[in-house]
Amino acid sequence: ETTRIIVDKNVENGKNYEQAVDLLKSEEVVAFPTETVYGLGGIATSDLAVSKIYEAKGRPSDNPLIVHIGTTEEIDRYVVDLSDKAQACMKEFWPGPLTIICKVKPNVLSTKVTAGLDTVGLRMPDHPVALQLLRQLGEPVAAPSANQSGKPSPTEGIHVEEDLRGRIPMILDGGATGIGVESTVIDLTLDTPTILRPGGITKEMLEAVIGEVEEPTHIEQKAGAPKAPGMKYTHYAPNAPVYLIEKDESAINQAIQAIQAKGQKVALLAPNQFATTAADYFFSFGEDTQQEMALHLYNALRACDSTDAQIVLATVTSTDGVGSAIMNRLEKSAGGHWYK
Ligand code: TXA
Ligand code: MG
Repeated sequence: ETTRIIVDKNVENGKNYEQAVDLLKSEEVVAFPTETVYGLGGIATSDLAVSKIYEAKGRPSDNPLIVHIGTTEEIDRYVVDLSDKAQACMKEFWPGPLTIICKVKPNVLSTKVTAGLDTVGLRMPDHPVALQLLRQLGEPVAAPSANQSGKPSPTEGIHVEEDLRGRIPMILDGGATGIGVESTVIDLTLDTPTILRPGGITKEMLEAVIGEVEEPTHIEQKAGAPKAPGMKYTHYAPNAPVYLIEKDESAINQAIQAIQAKGQKVALLAPNQFATTAADYFFSFGEDTQQEMALHLYNALRACDSTDAQIVLATVTSTDGVGSAIMNRLEKSAGGHWYK
């Protein structure tokens, strides 16, 4: 059975964390909130703990895991040849939603964490619960998003419970996460820093600190540019097929009519102002801003699975700022398909 412990992120109470620390030390896995999405953590030096993460999620083991740390003092234990740019990014953006790919120090972390690569992704999350847990534990924690592999990432403790109930011993529930999409992954072992996965820290923010940064488009990534191994899998998808559509009222109304005329039920995912269309189901992206959309995206995608909708329509946004991360996830959930 899975224990869910509610932790108040504004109250420092070490007691709530003791059980989680004990479980992690005995090579068990624990789900915990970060500022992006919930993670499923295990000690990154333990093959056993890391194999339990892959098993609970049903995740392919060629997809490496991010290693979470609670203090900057730990960095040198796990990586070598840290570049000036990497150090500048850590200083500027940690704790925060940035995962930095560095050269891994051999024979320290479980090889299951790096999936055989000579690099590791490091990140210090900016969430009081995650930081408290990591600091009280004093060990590196490997943690992918705490969803069943292929499902939208969890932004609330209840989502973790839906996906992993009975498969993991404990969920630290710190309420809804703050950003809603996963961290930016940047490879700083390449000559030109390259974004492997867009996220909360944007290309513009990175360039202000370290100069030129590459951000291959989805298409370029498919053509073989460097990529995060995980980005090749189908992700973030509800059971019904998702189609992208412009945020245009008459286009949306026409689409709904055409789908319903064929006897099918449709779920619409869009900002609040579209709540009153004739769609069979409506799940809101919140107010019409990119921050709100990032925050509500996975919740809305996930909600479709509790309906009998046969088609999902999701409105798009521009790709500037955090829109790049949003559209990256939305295009994947739709397999690149637009409603026509
Ligand atoms: O916000 C986040 O990053 C969340 C929270 C829990 O921290 N974690 C997360 O982990 O999204 P996960 O495992 O779902 O995604 C990690 C991504 C994958 O696309 C993986 O392929 C990539 O990072 N990655 C990890 N280590 C890598 C490495 N050494 N080289 C290239 N890509 C790597
Ligand atoms: Mg994930």
